[in-house]
Order: sequence, then C-alpha cells, then structure tokens
Amino acid sequence: MANILEVENLVKKYGDFAAVDGVEFTVEEGEVFGLLGPNGAGKTQTISMLTGVVEPSGGKARIGGYDIKTQAPEVKKINGLVPQDLALYPTISARANLNFFGRIYGLHGKDLKERVDDVLHIVGLTDRADDTVETFSGGMKRRVNIAAGLVHHPRLLFLDEPTVGVDPQSRNYIFESVQRLNRERQMSIVYTSHYMEEVELLCKRVAIMDQGKIVAMDTVKNLIAILGGGVILIGLDEVEDGLLVALSSLPAVRQASIAHPLDDQLTESEEEPDVDKPGSSETVVKIETENSQEALVNVFAYLNDRDIVVRSLEILESNLENVFLHLTGKKLRD
Ligand SMILES: Nc1ncnc2c1ncn2[C@@H]1O[C@H](COP(=O)(O)OP(=O)(O)OP(=O)(O)O)[C@@H](O)[C@H]1O
Ligand SMILES: [Mg+2]
Repeated sequence: MANILEVENLVKKYGDFAAVDGVEFTVEEGEVFGLLGPNGAGKTQTISMLTGVVEPSGGKARIGGYDIKTQAPEVKKINGLVPQDLALYPTISARANLNFFGRIYGLHGKDLKERVDDVLHIVGLTDRADDTVETFSGGMKRRVNIAAGLVHHPRLLFLDEPTVGVDPQSRNYIFESVQRLNRERQMSIVYTSHYMEEVELLCKRVAIMDQGKIVAMDTVKNLIAILGGGVILIGLDEVEDGLLVALSSLPAVRQASIAHPLDDQLTESEEEPDVDKPGSSETVVKIETENSQEALVNVFAYLNDRDIVVRSLEILESNLENVFLHLTGKKLRD
C-alpha cells in the first residue's frame, strides 16, 4: 500500500539545540502510527513541522505525495491537526467553534452544517452542541478539539496526546472515535502519547522517540519481543570477573550485563539519593531472559551456591514501557 506520509531526516533546531534530530519514518495509507516518548522527546515539534505550524531546519517530508515545503496548500487539505493544547473559543458554543474551523477550510452553507453535525456525532457531543465550551468538562473540551481537527475530512490526522487530563469516559470515547475513523473512513492517523497502553491498544507500528531521535521503530509485537520473556534487575555489592558470562550461560537467560549507567531509577530507589549511604554503591545487573520465572530460579540458585547476596530485585514485564527503559535507561513517565 502507498505511503501517505514519508519523513526524511527531519531536523528542528533552536540555536545549537536539536529538538528534532534527524527523524525518519513512513506511515502507510490507512495506518494508525504511534509516536511514543517522554516529555521533551520532540513529538510535538515533529508534528508541528509536518502540519506547517513551525518550519523545519532541515530534512524533507511528503504527505500524500506532496512536499510539505513547496506544496503547502495541497498538504493542508490532506492534514488534520488536533493540537496538544486546546485551541477553542470558550465563550461560544461547540457548534460555533466548529463552524469557525470549517470556514477556515472554505466550507459554508449546507456542506458546513453537514460536516459539523457529522463531527459532533463522531465525538459524541451532538446533544451538547449548542452549549458554550466553557461549561464543558476537560474531556468534553478535548472532544471538541478533536472535532475541530476533523471538520474538513482530512485523510491524515495528527492527534497530539489527545487524552491528557481526560476523564475515563471521554478517554474511551476518544479511543473508539479514533478506531472508527480509521476503520470506517480509512483515515490514516499519527497518534502521540506517553501512555504506552494507549499506543499498544491503538497502533500497529510505533516509533519510540527520545531526545529528538527515534530510538526504535517496529510493530508493537516486535518491539515487545526485544525484551523476550522479560528482564530481571538484581542489585549486587560487586560484580566479580566472569559473573556476567556465567549468568549469560544459564538456562532461560539470554544475556546478563551491567544496567544502563544513565539510569539511577533502575533500582527503583527506595533509598534517598545519598551517595555516602551504604548500599548506594550496589551494581545493578540486567538479565534479559527467555522466560523470567525460569531464569530467576536459575540465577538465584547460581548466586546462592556462591554466597553472593542479592541487595535488590526487580522484574520488568514485557511491555512498551519497559522496552523504552531497556533502550534508553529512562522511564517514559516522569
Ligand atoms: N519554541 C521553542 N524554543 C526552544 N525550544 C523549544 C521550543 N519548542 C520546543 N522546544 C524544545 O524542544 C524539545 C521537544 O519539545 P516537544 O514539545 O516536541 O516535546 P514532546 O515530545 O512533545 O513532549 P511532551 O510529551 O511534553 O509534549 C523540548 O526540549 C522543548 O523544550
Ligand atoms: Mg508534546
């Protein structure tokens, strides 16, 4: 199937700082693609460049075959943007807001009314259409924001963290709307989030971003397979020569290594971050497994036989959150 979006070496710089640092990915027509990453990863900046909100410092992108720089008017017709921050007029009704956005796209008369009715229905706000937006809950405002991005029937919709600060009911409604837009209207969707459960649920393929770069990109299934049967973290006073090799050769263990030095959070430190404190010098060994339970038994048997004391233990399940932790040494959420 053809690609609706092709991004090549996209860069956004502010002075010397690269907010987006050579990002490359493609989205197929009809795909829901996830952009996952912690605060400041560069998700919004990436989307902002693709939707003409900010100018790229470098790189290229094509949307529906059109170049985002030289064919901006064509690109604008294809794109729909639901920004991270609400962009609504609070003192007028939901319908009046949507009329306003529709007119920006050149809609009027009967067409405009039909489109507005349609998007109000999609986000489940038909019966609140004529109430002023300031009387809405946070979740309802988000839903109007989504409707505003849909009113011109885009082929490619960018949803930037649409569920932040949203109640569970609205959240479900947003999920269902996204799934229906994709299934029933073949809308292609780029969905950013730092909630891995959302991305696991909605997207087939995901790019994981950190510090302006894509650190991994694959199907959710393949990304999770990176962790195999899960990862075990054990804290030891010291790691003697040969221990990592010995642990790596135990049944059900794929590989043992010293945990990412960047990451103090790996030990899930209950202790204060006090360097002088005994115990803070422990070394965390990361054990990638085929099967975490089986590996755990073997690892503990091996360490027990040699009187090696385990100071801390953590078992990471195979999910996107832990794939991110494994790849970057950082947690997705602050
Ligand atoms: N106008 C600007 N001037 C300078 N730096 C900026 C500007 N806009 C964004 N940045 C920086 O670019 C980086 C990426 O920001 P971006 O908003 O894309 O992150 P994000 O992945 O969307 O994060 P979040 O999950 O918090 O929304 C951040 O370090 C941010 O401070
Ligand atoms: Mg953002």
